[in-house]
Amino acid sequence: SGYLAAKSEGGDISIAPQGPSASVTVLYSSQTGNAKGVATQFAKQAEEAGLPVSLKNIADVKAKALKNETHLIIVTSTNGEGEPPDDALAFHEFLLGKKAPKLDNLNFGVLALGDTSYEFFCQTGKDFDERLAALGASRILDRVDCDLDYDEPAAQWTSEAIALLKEQVSTATAAAPVAASSAVAASQFDKQNPYEAELLVSQKITGRDSNKDVRHVEIDLAESGLSYQVGDALGVYFENDSELVNELVDALSFSGDEVVTVKGNELSLSQALTTELEITQTAPAFVDFWAQASASEALLALAEDKNALREFAGRHQLVDVVKQGSADIDAQTFVDTLRKITPRLYSIASSQTEVEEEVHLTVGLVAYEQDGKQRFGGASGFLSNRLEEGGKVKVFVEHNDNFRLPQDSNTPVIMIGPGTGVAPFRAFMQEREATDATGDNWMFFGDQTFTQDFLYQVEWQNYLKSGLLTKLDVAFSRDQAEKVYVQHRIKEQAQEVFQWLERGAHLYICGDADRMAKDVHNALVEVVAEQGGLSLDDAEEYLKELRLNKRYQKDVY
Ligand code: 2AM
Repeated sequence: SGYLAAKSEGGDISIAPQGPSASVTVLYSSQTGNAKGVATQFAKQAEEAGLPVSLKNIADVKAKALKNETHLIIVTSTNGEGEPPDDALAFHEFLLGKKAPKLDNLNFGVLALGDTSYEFFCQTGKDFDERLAALGASRILDRVDCDLDYDEPAAQWTSEAIALLKEQVSTATAAAPVAASSAVAASQFDKQNPYEAELLVSQKITGRDSNKDVRHVEIDLAESGLSYQVGDALGVYFENDSELVNELVDALSFSGDEVVTVKGNELSLSQALTTELEITQTAPAFVDFWAQASASEALLALAEDKNALREFAGRHQLVDVVKQGSADIDAQTFVDTLRKITPRLYSIASSQTEVEEEVHLTVGLVAYEQDGKQRFGGASGFLSNRLEEGGKVKVFVEHNDNFRLPQDSNTPVIMIGPGTGVAPFRAFMQEREATDATGDNWMFFGDQTFTQDFLYQVEWQNYLKSGLLTKLDVAFSRDQAEKVYVQHRIKEQAQEVFQWLERGAHLYICGDADRMAKDVHNALVEVVAEQGGLSLDDAEEYLKELRLNKRYQKDVY
């Protein structure tokens, strides 16, 4: 990353710095890479402004060492349930604990990334911000909490923070080199400049009688220069369905030809709703807005209760909220209440060692009925219903260092991936096979029925036959009267699961965050307690230790 290199060779005039060698440390605390991207941009702009700046992963910084810092910027995301990203676990625990140092000399700013659909919105950012202040540090500027479409607020906060830092930190000292973080192979394509790739294959892999529509998708990355590792995700851009856009425009009694301004560009309302604005996911704030604007009694009652509001927003597309009441607003006002469309991240289901210039995904079509109308997810509807083989889709690679196979290929792995959570484990197996890895592999898969929903059944059975897959345990929840889930299989095999962990196995969970990942975690706690002769608290501690050592990784959504 050339622009991050030191710029100190030139004839910079050195003036004595104001404080004890004041400099700016930018920490990123990132799960999927968004916070890292924002922090990297911050560091770049700070450096261009002549500030001495270093950029670091929060995992590489001891909270105790903040005593020696003068100016600290933290860009952090928050996991679904309000937990810090994996990389921030140790730092967060120490900073919020009793042994944290007094930080009277520290100036700081926190930028928080999150998702207003979750109860603990931006919790990790709030934790850092409040705790640093409580330890005596001074805010350079107020924290900003960003929703999913964080680009604009993040850019604005960055500019403000840098202007303030320039007043506080001498800019004439030779710039310290910004730490070049993990040298990611550069492709000219990234989130801002996605690659327009060809859809090679889109094949339904659930049976005709399944309740679900899951596609195996293959995309051509040829000539993009894009490369990925197993564990990474593919960012997918999409356009909204024109029928849905028309339905929404009608529900609003607009024509669609109204001219609106989005991100500084003028375009028609219909165009904006097709390419620029989120209409298949609804922010709780929009339901609140529409409640007030339409004075709908039902919505106003909902808006009284934050949890109910969030739940309702999660289950209704914009058009179905709008249909609850009519409001007299102009197109621009309406547009200004919406979030910008953001690409969706899909866990990659292939290894480049095996598929070379392709990337494979396992796409579950989000589909449900609302008031007699069929609704589809934004990206999954695009990939499954509207994009034909041979068509084009804009993609980029999102690296995820928090979901990686063990470095030592002799290390055993336990993979827990029901439903589309199977995706990264298909990639893991391709990688383990292509690299002749000798570590044992144990897969837990679950879905509704054996005959309709056993995703990649033949591949799993072949891996088992060849011996690459050591154990395969499946849980088909609807093949018998009582529900059987992956966590039941884990508990049935408690002794062996614990033995694998004791001999160093890495543990991976991918799939539903809401219920599955929590229930599986609780099952693991019980297994460790029972088999290790530990209390439940000590078993939690055991698993936490695994997380800190990157032996317990989650990719849940
Ligand atoms: P169900 O829909 O029959 O309840 C993949 O979606 C599989 O995960 C399905 O078999 C689904 O079962 C199951 N599932 C639902 N809730 C779960 C939970 N809390 N823990 C684990 N699996 C769950």
